[in-house]
Amino acid sequence: MTCTVIVGGFFGDEGKGKIVSYLAIKDNPKIAVRGGVGPNAGHTVVFRQKESKLRMLPSAVINEETKLMIGPGVLVDPNVFLKEVAEFNVKDRVTLDRQCSIIEGKHIEKDRLDAYLKGKIGTTGTGCGPANVERIMRTAKMGKDIPELSLYLGDVPLLVNEAISNGEVVHVEGTQGTYISLYHGTYPFVTTKDVTASAICSDVGIGPKVVDEVIIVFKAYVTRVGAGELPGELTEQEAERRGWLERATVTGRTRRSAPFNYELARRAVMLNSATQIAVTKFDILFPETKNIRNFSELTKESKKMIDVIEAQTKAPVSIISTGPDAEATIDRRRELGLLK
Ligand code: GTP
Ligand code: IMP
Ligand code: MG
Repeated sequence: MTCTVIVGGFFGDEGKGKIVSYLAIKDNPKIAVRGGVGPNAGHTVVFRQKESKLRMLPSAVINEETKLMIGPGVLVDPNVFLKEVAEFNVKDRVTLDRQCSIIEGKHIEKDRLDAYLKGKIGTTGTGCGPANVERIMRTAKMGKDIPELSLYLGDVPLLVNEAISNGEVVHVEGTQGTYISLYHGTYPFVTTKDVTASAICSDVGIGPKVVDEVIIVFKAYVTRVGAGELPGELTEQEAERRGWLERATVTGRTRRSAPFNYELARRAVMLNSATQIAVTKFDILFPETKNIRNFSELTKESKKMIDVIEAQTKAPVSIISTGPDAEATIDRRRELGLLK
């Protein structure tokens, strides 16, 4: 297990932040590198009672030995990036690729004021779409054009590939989720790039042959923010009654919710060539599982859901999250023979 890619299997917010932070502590990666769209992502990491929110830095930030990188396919908002570098005190271990496109004030303004983007699609208003338009028009500013970023610039694909060649552990963090992919999602209610595993690899400059494992993250129920179809959607009252009502990390909007969708899960495993599944918020569906760390301690009923997910997707559920803290995790990778 040298190179592992972690991606979202539903509509984003599956809890990738939690899974990635657990893996960062457990596997001690040399490098954690972020792919995905940009600061439209919001991840929550809880480690030893401290909660952190991240939009630009990899969620592996909690492991102080891990080098943090952002690949050239990721949009960078310099304000958000510099604020997080200061907040997490990671100046000496963070590298931004010289070719990252920059989000400027005009992109944020357009994203927030445009009637179609704001009114119909319900974007995060973080400027990502308009900035990607400029990248495609070949008029975008890049990391290397911004003096405030000069300290942090480097050749991320080279550093990542060298580490992989040397047999080091590398984690590649995806953001968003399969069904808000520009290509594979519920167009037009999607984000502005593909966000499946192949795209995440491209974002950081690695090819498919160096990837050892693709871990796809599913929440134990499905949530979605913004507009677009959500099969089996519950009313807000029902979501609240079940304890599924969540608020978005970046925008503060209420997340819509629906029961776990096996059909979507099966297709997401296919689209990402996922080799393993991580399930989060298991304790919300099965409160008696809260903070459990051993698979054998799970109740019969909750194990049944794991069996059904595996039967329906033909992929092993190797990680089960039973609470927000990085350590509230059941890790079956060894017993399933998935750790080299
Ligand atoms: P991604 O967008 O997929 O990275 O997910 P995320 O990390 O952004 O999730 P987000 O922070 O948007 O929302 C997930 C929330 O659920 C956060 O408050 C997490 O701390 C919390 N969470 C994650 N996993 C679990 C879990 O297994 N159980 C419980 N109770 N909470 C969890
Ligand atoms: P944009 O990516 O800001 O343009 O937003 C387009 C759509 O993707 C909207 O429905 C957003 O709510 C959704 N979206 C973008 N990023 C995320 C994310 O990280 N989690 C959940 N939804 C997201
Ligand atoms: Mg999120």
